[in-house]
Amino acid sequence: MNILFIGDIFASPGRRITGEVLPGIVATEKIDLVIANAENSAGGFGITPNVAEELFSMGIEVLTTGNHIWDKREIYDYFQREPRLLRPANYPSGAPGAGVYVGKARNGVSYAVINLQGRVHMPATDCPFTKADEILASLPAGVKVRFVDFHAEVTSEKCAMGLYLDGRISALIGTHTHIPTADGRILPRGAAYQTDSGMTGPYLSVIGVEPQAVIHRFLTAMPVKFETASEWVELHGVIVGVDEASGRATSIKAVAETL
Ligand code: FE2
Repeated sequence: MNILFIGDIFASPGRRITGEVLPGIVATEKIDLVIANAENSAGGFGITPNVAEELFSMGIEVLTTGNHIWDKREIYDYFQREPRLLRPANYPSGAPGAGVYVGKARNGVSYAVINLQGRVHMPATDCPFTKADEILASLPAGVKVRFVDFHAEVTSEKCAMGLYLDGRISALIGTHTHIPTADGRILPRGAAYQTDSGMTGPYLSVIGVEPQAVIHRFLTAMPVKFETASEWVELHGVIVGVDEASGRATSIKAVAETL
């Protein structure tokens, strides 16, 4: 089966290009399951119930997130109504929501999506490595297709997690930096891996934000108001082919689309 993962959908430019190009990618690449990181999908900060509904209505089955998940308060209660919206699993158990979803893809195959968050240069959370162990041990044996979005800042933590989980998952794709990396590969025990999928949003920017404000902040160390950039809107993601009987990845390729 083919899984499309769409990298961090950033604000309205990211949502617009996703809506426009997703049907074509699904048809051309024979996609069976669409997953997207949406932690910056509402104005660049967090996600709202309306934005989540908009993304689900485009044909995205599961939404993953990251450290910005708590930016919009109205999303907190939404977790109870919509289990397909995930927050990183290694937030302490008192936090709303869950970090794993088990479902059936449009081809009838059972799958699990797991959302984890790094701890290096990120908010303090529980250990993502032991949380992954716990979740993988709890999944039904019949759920062979296991996709992990690891939302983390540093490449070393992402590489380590990929190799740590190799043999137990189908794919681990990194998010959060908004910069696509060119290291997509299949690890020795069958997990597809890429350090970062990149962003779906405006690339004439500093990770989605209008550049002048960010440059001003670097020059002065003063607080500035961040506005969403608007130019060079691109969709970035990966397509992972998985053998559903074994759960091992058979292929990984980057996807890049412009309007
Ligand atoms: Fe993030």
